[in-house]
Amino acid sequence: MKGLVLAGGTATRLYPLTVVTNKHLLPIYDRPMIYYPIETLAAMGIRETMVVVGGKSVGDIVELLGDGSDFGLDLTYRFQRGARGIADAIGLARDFVGDDAFCTILGDNILRGAPLRSIADTFESGPWGAGTLLHEVPDPERFGVAEFDADGRLVGFEEKPTTPKSNLIPIGVYFLRPDAFDVIGRLVPSARGELEVTELLNHYIPGDRLFTQVYDGHWTDAGTVQSLLRAAELAATDDAAGRLAAPAQRQP
Ligand code: G1P
Repeated sequence: MKGLVLAGGTATRLYPLTVVTNKHLLPIYDRPMIYYPIETLAAMGIRETMVVVGGKSVGDIVELLGDGSDFGLDLTYRFQRGARGIADAIGLARDFVGDDAFCTILGDNILRGAPLRSIADTFESGPWGAGTLLHEVPDPERFGVAEFDADGRLVGFEEKPTTPKSNLIPIGVYFLRPDAFDVIGRLVPSARGELEVTELLNHYIPGDRLFTQVYDGHWTDAGTVQSLLRAAELAATDDAAGRLAAPAQRQP
C-alpha cells in the first residue's frame, strides 16, 4: 500500500498564524504538525508516500521532511495549485499510485493510541472500493457527518451540515484504490468551490463497497485555533505511550 499526505490549503481559519507560513509547519507540542500524519502512515507499514503541498512555505516542508528516510519512508512531492479540495488533491496522485491501494491522510490529523496497521491490511486484502474511519465528536457540524437509516446502516456523508444527523464523522484517513481517480474526475465542485472527499466516499456506499470502522483511539484535527490547542494537549498527555514512531533526530 502507498501513502498520501495532504498538506495544501490556505488555512485561513488559523489566521494570523498562517499568514506567512504553512499550517502543517506549526508546532504541535514538540514537533511540526506534519510529523504526526507522517508517523501514522509509517506505523501502518507504508513506505512509499507522496506529500501534496500547496499554499505558503512549501519549500520549508520539503526541507523539513527531506527524502523521508528519517521516518522510514520514501517521500515524493507534488504541488496543488489553489484550494480546490481534498478530492482534487487526491487526484494529483494518480501517476504515483499506479495500480496500488493507498491510504490518504490529512496533514492536520493527529491520531493517538490505536494502531492502524491491521485496519490497513484488512482494507487492502478486502473487497471494498474505499474505506474511512469514523469518530464521535461533540461538534460534528465542522466536519463531514455520517447519516444512518433506522436499521443503523450508513446512508451517506454530508459535508459541514448546519443540522448534523449524527455525531459520527469520517476522520481524515481514507483508504482508496486507483478506481478513485475516475470517480474524482466525475465530481463537481461544492458550493464552497471544492471537490469534497465526502462525495468521493458517498460513491462507494451503494452495494456496501465502503469499508468503515469506528476509530476508538484519540483523534483531533488541528485546523482551528481551538483544535490546534487540543492537538497539542493530546500530543503532550499521550506522549509517553502513544508515539507511533520516533523520528530520528535531524542533523542540521
Ligand atoms: C475535512 C473533510 C471532512 C473531514 C475532516 C476531518 O474537513 O472535508 O469531511 O471530516 O477533514 O479532519 P476540513 O476540516 O479539512 O475542512
